[in-house]
Amino acid sequence: MWDSEDDASAGFEDISFIHNALPELRCDEIDCSCIFMGKKLRAPLMINAITGGHADVTEINRGLARVAAATGIAMAVGSQRAALDDPDVKQTFTVAREENHKGLLLANLNALCTLEEANQAVAMIDADGIQLHLNAGQELVMREGETNFIGIRDNIEHLVRNLPVPVLVKEVGFGLSREVVTALFKAGVRYIDVSGRGGTNFAAIEGRRGGVAGLHLKKWGIPTAISLLETTSTGLPLTVVASGGLRSSLDIALSLAAGAALTAIAGPFLKVLVEKGEDSLINLIKELIAGLEQVMMLTGAANLQALMGKPIILTGYTAEWLQRRGIDINLYACR
Ligand SMILES: Cc1cc2nc3c(=O)[nH]c(=O)nc-3n(C[C@H](O)[C@H](O)[C@H](O)COP(=O)(O)O)c2cc1C
Repeated sequence: MWDSEDDASAGFEDISFIHNALPELRCDEIDCSCIFMGKKLRAPLMINAITGGHADVTEINRGLARVAAATGIAMAVGSQRAALDDPDVKQTFTVAREENHKGLLLANLNALCTLEEANQAVAMIDADGIQLHLNAGQELVMREGETNFIGIRDNIEHLVRNLPVPVLVKEVGFGLSREVVTALFKAGVRYIDVSGRGGTNFAAIEGRRGGVAGLHLKKWGIPTAISLLETTSTGLPLTVVASGGLRSSLDIALSLAAGAALTAIAGPFLKVLVEKGEDSLINLIKELIAGLEQVMMLTGAANLQALMGKPIILTGYTAEWLQRRGIDINLYACR
């Protein structure tokens, strides 16, 4: 239900590792733990924002927080707008911190929010950082969605300068270009989640709900692999999250080699939790981590720093796109 359901691809089929038949490593010495926003994670993985906009998501957030705690990965709550507008809804978010006292937990609001609202969202869940989402594509296909985005860049700059926690700016499935990433960097942003095309597709979802609304945007957006490489090839000192259509351990590993510090998954995690329950989601996440460690072994990488230095080969549509944008695709192949 939350997949792209058209032929839009996140683009990972265009990125390959080089198999290492002589790894000289033991499985039990492979370490994929990392530090993100000052907290240690079992693996570079996050349950991305998924529960925004609904009044009653307490049980979903409880389940997701318990899974994050059990697996040692990060979690972002969905947009807290509803709880700012109606204090009765707060509990649907505070439950995430109650179930996961020590874990890395991110708040979430639209990037058009005020400083006061962002401070409230952070305080509500004692968040380690806040995600600000950019979702023009989603708003446009929603009935009564936001239609005015003037001043959004300056607002982000104001928030970054004045909030007491790190600010991560994310898309919601349409991707970020290197121009947007550069503008965000100039606005003081240091954490970016590209959240590109190829996974959850809000244009398709809204199109299904409302007839033709959104259907013309079904294939709109920058595929995740391209968006990620556009971002990391800027060379800017950014901490980058890869999300949007990541569905396997290999997608996760390729994202890390392409320069991401963290990876995130939303739609499929929600689907497994709702349809099969907490234990199934815990098992899925453990399998993803075990698979990441296997890929690390087969590239000869004992830790994430080593994985990030492994060569990757870019081919097909992704390579062609990057070349036409003047990005050196051999940057990643010869290192
Ligand atoms: C049901 C659902 C609700 C979402 N709500 C939010 C939200 O409130 N805030 C946000 O920043 N992103 C939201 N997202 C977007 C995800 O965080 C993510 O950027 C996007 O789904 C792409 O990842 P995926 O392909 O793994 O689902 C939502 C996604 C889903 C599936």
